[in-house]
Amino acid sequence: MGPGDLEKTLAGLPVPEDPRIIAGNHFSDDAAIFKLNSETTIIQTVDFFPPVVDDPYHYGAIAAANSLSDIYAMGGRPVTALNIVGFPPELDLEILREILRGALDKAQEAGVFILGGHSVKDHEIKFGLAVTGILTGESFTPESRARAGDLLVLTKPLGTGIITTGCKKELVDADVCNRAVAVMSELNDVASRLMMKSGARSATDVTGFGLLGHALRMARASGVGMTFDSRQIPLIEGATEALKKGAYPGGSSANRAYVEPHVTWSPEVPENIRKVMADAQTSGGLLISISPSGADDLLKSLASAGHSGAVIVGKVTPPGKTFLMVE
Ligand code: CO
Ligand code: CO
Repeated sequence: MGPGDLEKTLAGLPVPEDPRIIAGNHFSDDAAIFKLNSETTIIQTVDFFPPVVDDPYHYGAIAAANSLSDIYAMGGRPVTALNIVGFPPELDLEILREILRGALDKAQEAGVFILGGHSVKDHEIKFGLAVTGILTGESFTPESRARAGDLLVLTKPLGTGIITTGCKKELVDADVCNRAVAVMSELNDVASRLMMKSGARSATDVTGFGLLGHALRMARASGVGMTFDSRQIPLIEGATEALKKGAYPGGSSANRAYVEPHVTWSPEVPENIRKVMADAQTSGGLLISISPSGADDLLKSLASAGHSGAVIVGKVTPPGKTFLMVE
């Protein structure tokens, strides 16, 4: 479903009210947060989707990284998870085994225990995790706390939707596909831990709605504007070539149409960058709103932890004519 459909569907449905609910579906955040008692605050999320890559092991690892990411986006620490499986009965169970193995390895890397799950017969494969985590401190990073004057940091390059579409249609080379797999498999755990240390105010993980779709949600929730520097948008190497060959997912086109009324483009912003900024990502990086000194701190600590891919892509501004500006 596109972001507009989701809003329409949820509109008017009753939302639970309780002082222990710190974040829930009426705040449009990445994960729900519930204060169990004075010591423990749990954080929960669920995510699953059809295969984005052919290799079942990689698909399992990517789906796991993607599911865990919503906990990281809130500044939480994932602890346990449950598998969610849709599987066609006519397929070889060895495929499912490989998917689960990929997820288990990724969970182990994250220090998360997968403790069970549920499977149903389905006409296509679907896989993901329901994840429970905890908040280790008082602070967390809801979408509603971006503040004018903050900088926007993006921790992974864009283009996984374009490249995986190109891979499915055999339009791009295997090394480009492998690069996208590596980006999607990377956990957002280090980025999350370091952003909390550096005083991040607000964050979200860039997934199905694309950079602009997720930025729009954050800008709306925070009542601010955002200005992006199109020259700073990081691309996975090979994304532009894949675009040129006509690889652009339907979901990304839908994102573009949805955000377009809320974006002011400088005329010089090239069309390929506009497309990439709306591209639906799988297991994308964190988009973080943080003070300029915090951003400096964060980029330095990420680099010394071996994550040099994070960049400042823009800034948070007072609300303007449109929510988003791209220069
Ligand atoms: Co998310
Ligand atoms: Co999600």
